[in-house]
Amino acid sequence: MTLPRPRTAWGVGHVSRWGCDPLDLIEEGARLGPVFGLRLWRPAVLGYSPAWNRFVLSDIKTFRSKGSMSDLSPYLNGGVVQLDPPEHRRRRQQLNPAFAHGNIRALTSQIADVVTRCLPSGPFDAVAWSAALMREILAVTLLGGQVGPGLLADFLDPLDRALPVPFLRRPVLFHRMNAAVRDCIDQAPAGTLTAAFRDLPNGPEELRIAVSAGYDTTAHTLAWLLGHVAQQPELLATEPRAAVINEVLRLYPAGWVGSRRCTADAEFEGLRIRRGTLVLYSPYLTHRDPRLWADPLAFRPGRFSDGAAAWSFIPFAAGERTCLGRSFAQLVLGTVLDVLAGADLRFVGGTMRPRAGITLRPAGPLRLELNR
Ligand code: HEM
Repeated sequence: MTLPRPRTAWGVGHVSRWGCDPLDLIEEGARLGPVFGLRLWRPAVLGYSPAWNRFVLSDIKTFRSKGSMSDLSPYLNGGVVQLDPPEHRRRRQQLNPAFAHGNIRALTSQIADVVTRCLPSGPFDAVAWSAALMREILAVTLLGGQVGPGLLADFLDPLDRALPVPFLRRPVLFHRMNAAVRDCIDQAPAGTLTAAFRDLPNGPEELRIAVSAGYDTTAHTLAWLLGHVAQQPELLATEPRAAVINEVLRLYPAGWVGSRRCTADAEFEGLRIRRGTLVLYSPYLTHRDPRLWADPLAFRPGRFSDGAAAWSFIPFAAGERTCLGRSFAQLVLGTVLDVLAGADLRFVGGTMRPRAGITLRPAGPLRLELNR
């Protein structure tokens, strides 16, 4: 079977379009068919049907993380993100209890205190505020308040910048961050989230990666959430809070694309996928497919009243590599809504258009106003 392919720029494959405007590229591909080919730095195949998501995400032995796009980012090329079976399962078994819903819920008052302390007054940019808030939440909950705000801001800053900045190596900065994280783990009181990293083979790297993976993903999701709630304040009175959060995660999945390296020849619905191919899934395309979601661009939390069809709603991926910080992120988003309940939050201006970098973010500032 020959795969359709979006047009290439100057006949040199899709790398430049991927770097400049990947959403335009994959949306063009999606119009060609449910699975399409891309010529990136290695041959790639992207699919977005529920069957494809299941095919890729439920077979972590064939579709491996090492050798995929996470290799490119110093923020993600290590720890559990890069482990493959059987080590991956062992590491998740070590990490999952600390990040399980029940354990994470114990952080509610700590997070609410940070949100209350950081609440803006008057006009503010939801994108910048959410990023600063998330840095502070991570500093308190995951790093036990032991990493200086300057170092943490310097470390995370490249994640807020356009490609290729997040991909550049920064050995000195990473070395300083690793040392600071090691101290946090050493000093963490037993039972805290930080202490959970103490007995891992490479605890400081693992914690540094959790901080990186949790930062811009949650911050951008929060910015979108505030943008919608400010435009439609009645939402929270009429819709369940979880449905509002889900609708934000559907339209703006921070992890807009995920990748794996195919380690053995495979076949999907008659399509042969050769060993070595980069295999991509896209929550962004799945979540905006009109065959799965009626009127997909409309913001309608009510669509979640009957749940979502299997493998159609995957903002945190699915299967064994499901996001480790899912409960953490949901707690942060819900707690901000709780703290803001009853406040006068207004939308002043800005565009809700997404821009894809390492994660999906608003294309520009979202100007809001909070009157307390
Ligand atoms: C709204 C916020 C978030 C979103 C949308 C999100 C999304 C995702 C997605 C899609 C993946 C799977 C990537 C792949 O393998 O293809 C993932 C994995 C991961 N996430 Fe998140 N994430 C969020 C927040 C967080 C937070 C707060 C943390 C930690 C505190 C975190 C830590 C991780 C880790 C460690 C992995 C790798 C898991 C593994 O490979 O086994 N994430 N996340």
